[in-house]
Amino acid sequence: CGIVGYVGYRQAAPVLLEGLKQLEYRGYDSYGIATRSNGIFIHKKKGKVSDFIPEEATLPGTCGIGHTRWATHGIPSDINAHPHSDCHDQVAIVHNGIIENYSHLKRELQAKGHIFKSETDTEVIPHILEDLNQGNLLKAMQETVHHLEGSYAILAISGDSDRLIAVKNRSPLVLGIGDHEFFAASDITPLLEYTNRVIYLEDGDIAEISEDGYTIYQDSVLVSRAVHEIEWTPDAVQKGGFPHFMLKEIYEQPEVINRAIHSLSSDTLPRFLCDAKSITVVACGSSYHAGLIFRYLAESSCGIPVRVELGSEFKYCSVPLTDVIIGISQSGETADTLSAIHKGNCNNVQTVAVTNVLNSSITRYSDVTILMQAGPEISVAATKSFTAQLGVLLQVVNLLSGRISDETLSHAGVAIEKVLLLNMEDAVTLCARAQHIFYVGRGPFYPVMMEGALKMKEISYIHAESYAAGEIKHGPFSLLSSETPVVAICLPGPSYAVMLGNLKEMKARGTPIVAIGYGDDTELSELADIVIPLDEEQLYLQIVGATVILQMLSYYTASRLGREIDKPRNLAKSVTVE
Ligand code: G6P
Repeated sequence: CGIVGYVGYRQAAPVLLEGLKQLEYRGYDSYGIATRSNGIFIHKKKGKVSDFIPEEATLPGTCGIGHTRWATHGIPSDINAHPHSDCHDQVAIVHNGIIENYSHLKRELQAKGHIFKSETDTEVIPHILEDLNQGNLLKAMQETVHHLEGSYAILAISGDSDRLIAVKNRSPLVLGIGDHEFFAASDITPLLEYTNRVIYLEDGDIAEISEDGYTIYQDSVLVSRAVHEIEWTPDAVQKGGFPHFMLKEIYEQPEVINRAIHSLSSDTLPRFLCDAKSITVVACGSSYHAGLIFRYLAESSCGIPVRVELGSEFKYCSVPLTDVIIGISQSGETADTLSAIHKGNCNNVQTVAVTNVLNSSITRYSDVTILMQAGPEISVAATKSFTAQLGVLLQVVNLLSGRISDETLSHAGVAIEKVLLLNMEDAVTLCARAQHIFYVGRGPFYPVMMEGALKMKEISYIHAESYAAGEIKHGPFSLLSSETPVVAICLPGPSYAVMLGNLKEMKARGTPIVAIGYGDDTELSELADIVIPLDEEQLYLQIVGATVILQMLSYYTASRLGREIDKPRNLAKSVTVE
């Protein structure tokens, strides 16, 4: 979910609605705003904030809060949309996170006569505030948080004054500092248009903000927090002439990968990583796939055993921890990855964060941070952040082993530029009419295919399944037919001959084949229905090139099918619940 707050001299409603549009990638099944003028005004409904109608921007007042939701407790509906208020609409709040003890709190409140309107965990908060508020919302919030267990970033307003209360505990929240106006938001994207001065609140912080200034407290004690100047510009969160953020972000990759590779040098590589005898990588989604590719490269070039675990599964692993844990997370906020890092901290393992977001939660939980410097990624499906992760991780392997040539590294951007010129039409036609697609590869190309299949599923809604090519005969063969295309990577290298054999077996079952291979490979072109040419010799450039080809295949297939590419149904970019 994404939350935003404003207090200042402008009309709050338009600022909040525009801000929510920037946060929509965090969730988009319902949205709402509350403003304060003479009392509290709330407007909320199911649907996307980008579809809002102009009348919604006419709620009165210069102080307010907003929310765009990714449903956890309670279906997407007008009633479950935030903001939530108390019985008498004296306070309104928005919340990102989960109140773990909400059912217990709800029963207590109901026993006292509170009437609940929604099914959300969040609604307990305004009801507790209602009981505790004696005309001082700050004080009431300071007491309320003692009742709450879980993760929360909360913004609250009350009907009696233009004051915003902001609370952070294990969910991200930043303050934007303007001139007689202040902002609060889940991340910096909605603030960029107004200010580049921000404060990253710490867990346990409660801020009281009015148009005259702000004060921040920890356990009722006044604290001061550094003001940071941010470098991202408002252009970074605009589409810049592209039909979708995803395509813009795909096209940014030549520059992004070069920047990522150079984000790390032998001077900045943590010493403990150089000395590591074993490494665990924890991550989710696309970041997990980047970790799997890192494993192949690190084990073959450095001889260091690398274990790669899903953030959500790591808590169930009981074998001894390795010397170092690397957490990979674009957003730096994925709850499962954070809890895995936390497990490392509890066991005195040294931790490294690879992230795109300065000051995100993962940076605070880790001993060292490597910033991948991809710039803001708005499309829900990861593209440039994934290649940036590959850039950073490749550089780690290079610095640890010294075995990847500088020439290879410097060609990564050029390899992507060549891929961006490819025509995908025929492959898109074949994929767009399929209901199921298998993605197969061997060695490091297997996780490349896992990422390719994930991309296809996410944005085209076609069922795409990745398989290690050698495994497909142990079951999925029964599903192969002329209706079920297989996408394969068959490039010169150690797996080439056996891969060609696997494709022959599949072809014998009538399966259409889209192969990524050398453009002049006659044996492959006789076998495959379509060859997408990738003429790179170096393994690393093959990995990067194939990754971008598969992103384009997904993008253009989803576009052909008329899908809502940047905001696929049911998904959110930053998942801050376990
Ligand atoms: C969500 C996003 C994915 C992303 C995953 C992990 O599911 O939709 O694109 O790969 O979270 O996110 P992270 O920010 O930790 O890399």
